[in-house]
Amino acid sequence: MNHVAADWEGHSVEELKDRWRRSHVYLYSQADSTNTRAKHLARSGSMPGTIVVADAQAAGRGIANRRWHSPAGSGLYLSLILRPARVPNARLIPLLAGLGAARAAERTAAGVRVELKWPNDLIVNDRKLGGVLVEASWAAEAPVWLVIGVGINVHLQTADFPNELQSVATSLDAAAGRRVSRLALADALIPELEAACDVLPERLDEQRLQRIAQRDWLQNRRCVLERPGDERLSGVAAGIGPDGALVFIPDTGPPVAVSVGRVRTDHLLTPDY
Ligand code: BTN
Repeated sequence: MNHVAADWEGHSVEELKDRWRRSHVYLYSQADSTNTRAKHLARSGSMPGTIVVADAQAAGRGIANRRWHSPAGSGLYLSLILRPARVPNARLIPLLAGLGAARAAERTAAGVRVELKWPNDLIVNDRKLGGVLVEASWAAEAPVWLVIGVGINVHLQTADFPNELQSVATSLDAAAGRRVSRLALADALIPELEAACDVLPERLDEQRLQRIAQRDWLQNRRCVLERPGDERLSGVAAGIGPDGALVFIPDTGPPVAVSVGRVRTDHLLTPDY
């Protein structure tokens, strides 16, 4: 299931180490999941800054164990290992990483506007472009390691997605109307992720809060909130707080700050994407 590769996008692993200024880069022509590979590496002591990239994933994963459609040569499937000294608020990591990924995607595909759907989705033109999957191992309240996985649809066209995703998914090529480089996207993404997660805050500062608010796709949208073990609530999303919680105003009752859950809108109804 896991096939190591000597190169990716025409560059050898040694060239990519130089290009991305790090000593540990692992390439796969096919991996089960770059997050799974990165977690194994992290458990066996791999350095912070280690990058895992796959051309295809046989068992790409999204949040809530959903499948991440990862055909060969079509998307960016990348995971980064970090070992931060402190993680005062883990809820912020997907948001900060998502912000970094949105900035990287926009720089690579000029003219494309990338929004964020709380808590971990990248959205373009009301469709899902990509997502972030953060996994961690904790000991005594401190993280031993973090794996930040980013999946971005790059070269996929509508027909390349499974039927049930065709009306809700998009890619950078489709949005830009031209072929976007996966290598340039990885070049832009890696420093954005590292900068976003360099010193992890407990609360979002004004600048980050504003940057996220400017891209908040859910803002003022009617949606249905689903929380584990709770009934569904209809209402309106009203922004993201400094603690990373989604502010949700139910049709009846007072506003709630949602830390864990998901929201579905009329636009993105597919349950598994
Ligand atoms: C989501 O939308 O739920 C998150 C999707 C994250 C997919 C990426 S692809 C690279 C990394 N490896 C995985 O198996 N998942 C993440």
